[in-house]
Amino acid sequence: MSEQKSSRIGGFYKLSREERLDAVKDVSGLAQEDLDRLLSTESLPFELADRLVENAVSSFGVPLGIATNMLVDGRDVLVPMATEESSVIAAASNAARQCRDSGGFHTSLSATEMIAQIQVLGLSDPWAGRAKILERKSEIAQICNGCDPMLVKLGGGFRDLQVRVLPSSRGSMVVTHIIVDTKDAMGANAVNTMAERLAPTLASWTGGRHHLRILSNLADRRLARARAVWPKDAIGGTEIVDAMLDAAEFAEVDPYRAATHNKGIMNGISSVALATGNDTRAIEAGAHAYAATSGAYRPLSHYEKTAEGDLAGSIELPLALGLVGGATKVHPMAQVCLKILGVQNVVEFSGIVAAVGLAQNFAALKALATVGIQKGHMTLHAQNVAIAAGATGEEIAQVAAELARRGEVRGDVAETVLAEIRAKT
Ligand code: MEV
Repeated sequence: MSEQKSSRIGGFYKLSREERLDAVKDVSGLAQEDLDRLLSTESLPFELADRLVENAVSSFGVPLGIATNMLVDGRDVLVPMATEESSVIAAASNAARQCRDSGGFHTSLSATEMIAQIQVLGLSDPWAGRAKILERKSEIAQICNGCDPMLVKLGGGFRDLQVRVLPSSRGSMVVTHIIVDTKDAMGANAVNTMAERLAPTLASWTGGRHHLRILSNLADRRLARARAVWPKDAIGGTEIVDAMLDAAEFAEVDPYRAATHNKGIMNGISSVALATGNDTRAIEAGAHAYAATSGAYRPLSHYEKTAEGDLAGSIELPLALGLVGGATKVHPMAQVCLKILGVQNVVEFSGIVAAVGLAQNFAALKALATVGIQKGHMTLHAQNVAIAAGATGEEIAQVAAELARRGEVRGDVAETVLAEIRAKT
């Protein structure tokens, strides 16, 4: 096995595009065809776009960047992130740098199981119906596993059964959960097929009527966790540790703040999910539902002070990620991004993604608790405003610099500044 190269690449942002790609190749061992793919302007051939969705007319570009400095479970990893939001990739890289010396991120995944739900209606004796379903667990296992022999061959398949009776304004529903180990697949197709196949049998056993048959995005059998310690000296001292703890505590006690806190986490997580062709909406839905399972909407991450006075952060959320199947398998850019990550299985992959979420959250809290978020945002944002006002080439940097100098990063000001620059030349 080749020696693992460090993901700590100082001044990555100052390199040219070619130099950045060289560095990525060096760490991730990409082949020339992967680099060509990254250099090509056509990240998604139209024939493929046309097969992925209906009524396709083109594909939609989003910037793809690389977060550096990530050390996850002792492995140096470069993380591809697809996002239109400025500062996100730099923030994750900075946060990762500040916890490298204390060992980086440590992660775990609870299991690789997904849940599918089958709703049975119309029972006058729902509790008896529940009992009848639970009695036939081994037959249910057989029906489910029969739908996907390949998954079973790979070590996955049916794992467990839960049956709930849910009172509702339209009468009691009997809701069966089949719990299926989908291994390295996100598993939506596998579990939905099983649920559809099983539903009529459940209806006939209970005498009820089967209705919905669909996976649950509250994938709490696939909980990814990450933790890291940021030494006080690496982040500016005890005052900053305390300021960040006050910032994190705000999210613990207020859902208005928790929503924004978690949005920052998802800035990182959704970017990696998108770059790897995963279903970002499934992951977002799971994360926010999990944040609310206590009955109140809570933050997905928590911060404490260690005995040494350092800042310990941890995160836990459902991550229904896949390495095989869906767009991940067919999207050529997603394939290159997975090569950059160099992950062997979904356990490793989920750990990295959870770590990126925590890094993103740390960076936002630190900025918010110190200089505020606008300072970092404004440089790139000013450039976007300049472009929107019509600036091109060198004008972009000139207009952006002037907007920053005036402290007025607005479209109308950008138009005035651009007109002034053009009048002078
Ligand atoms: C902006 O996209 C994300 C933040 O609002 C997150 C947060 O407030 O924690 C900065």
